[in-house]
Amino acid sequence: MFVIHAAAEAVPFAKVGGLGDVLGGLPKAQARAGLRVLVALPRYRSIDAALEPAGEVEYRFGGRSYAARVWSAARQGVEFRFFEVDPAWNEPYEAPEAERYLRFSLALAAWLAERPYDLLHAHDWHAAFAVRLARRPTVFTIHNLAFQGELEPAAFKSYTGLEPGPELLHAGRVNLMKGAVLAAARVSTVSPRYAREILTPEYGMGLEGVLRGVRDKLVGILNGLDTEYWNPATDPYLPQRYDADHLEKKRLSRAALLAALRLDPGLFTIGAVSRLTWQKGFDLVLEALPEVLNSGTNFILVGTGEPELEKGFAEMARRYPRRVAFRPAFDEARAHKVYGGSDAFLMPSRFEPCGLGQMIAMRYGTPPVARATGGLADTVEDGVTGVLFEEASPEAIAAAVERLRGLDRVALARAGMARDFSWDKRAAEYLELYEEALGG
Ligand code: GLC
Repeated sequence: MFVIHAAAEAVPFAKVGGLGDVLGGLPKAQARAGLRVLVALPRYRSIDAALEPAGEVEYRFGGRSYAARVWSAARQGVEFRFFEVDPAWNEPYEAPEAERYLRFSLALAAWLAERPYDLLHAHDWHAAFAVRLARRPTVFTIHNLAFQGELEPAAFKSYTGLEPGPELLHAGRVNLMKGAVLAAARVSTVSPRYAREILTPEYGMGLEGVLRGVRDKLVGILNGLDTEYWNPATDPYLPQRYDADHLEKKRLSRAALLAALRLDPGLFTIGAVSRLTWQKGFDLVLEALPEVLNSGTNFILVGTGEPELEKGFAEMARRYPRRVAFRPAFDEARAHKVYGGSDAFLMPSRFEPCGLGQMIAMRYGTPPVARATGGLADTVEDGVTGVLFEEASPEAIAAAVERLRGLDRVALARAGMARDFSWDKRAAEYLELYEEALGG
């Protein structure tokens, strides 16, 4: 089977968030399982890997013909193609987003029209329009319903020359995600629980009615983890590597981390690595922090996002220099050290389609404290591998941290490290979905 993935990002070429990790991990696992796999991405200027020229493709946009240059690369059995629809396009998610991603979809569809392949697997709104244009069966995966790819009908018409019909219009605007949800042979999202949640007004972001209408073709498949990359037994960023049989060595990672950050080594230490957005719930953490610190706890946070939150955590770090450390940076090395060196890992998300941090933390023997939502609820087993809490509130966060402190954390760590989060299992589930899409 020959599968084409289309998305805005893929490790190691471009990454903004968890989507990039998925497009790094799933195709590799599929190639290992014997599929032919190609990943189509926009050609961003920020991609500095060596790419080979791979011809051109003509596509129409705004009433004109364009020739997009195509570039190629290969990694661990996976082919990559990069579509240069705009040479000035620097990074994923730059404005004006909808226009550039529409061009990406149009160029990709023109390219696919001349090629044999079996199935197109498109991810999130960026690649959604390609689902409508593809002539072969499609699978569409929702990674985050908060971004749906909306634009004015007049703009859409001037770009594509097409009159947007009811299958694309939503609340008066063109909604690319809705279009893909309706057109795809199968729709998936990245955890079984989120697949149920998005049918409700609380999580559906306005598309719950559309999604309820397609529930027969909607499934949840958990994301995997790149367990080669995320492995405490081989992680080059850790001062001392360890595994489940040598958990005592984790203490050295902990000591090094706390010393580097000048935190009190005698205190229970909670770590977090996150984008600081409403989704992730860190405004609630900021409110919960005084109470959490009072009970004799350190808090470490690595991540960037909303300026208000960055300011708030920087202020807490100034006020409690021995208890709070905040790194407002996308710092891969520090992130690894936090996963390896903390006593617990916090993920208080308001919604979380899958989430990666909780799986990494469990693999590193660092029990997560997470909100019982989406993929967090599907991967963390309350009282066994970590602690789950229901309510999105500062009180619930503080109480959950207290609860974790009272549990046998070595037992939790061992149980978490024994879980299998590898992509291979997930690749098999996707294959089943592909077979359904091809069959029906
Ligand atoms: C989005 C979701 C996150 C998920 C990731 C990859 O970033 O917010 O929960 O893990 O996509 O699917």
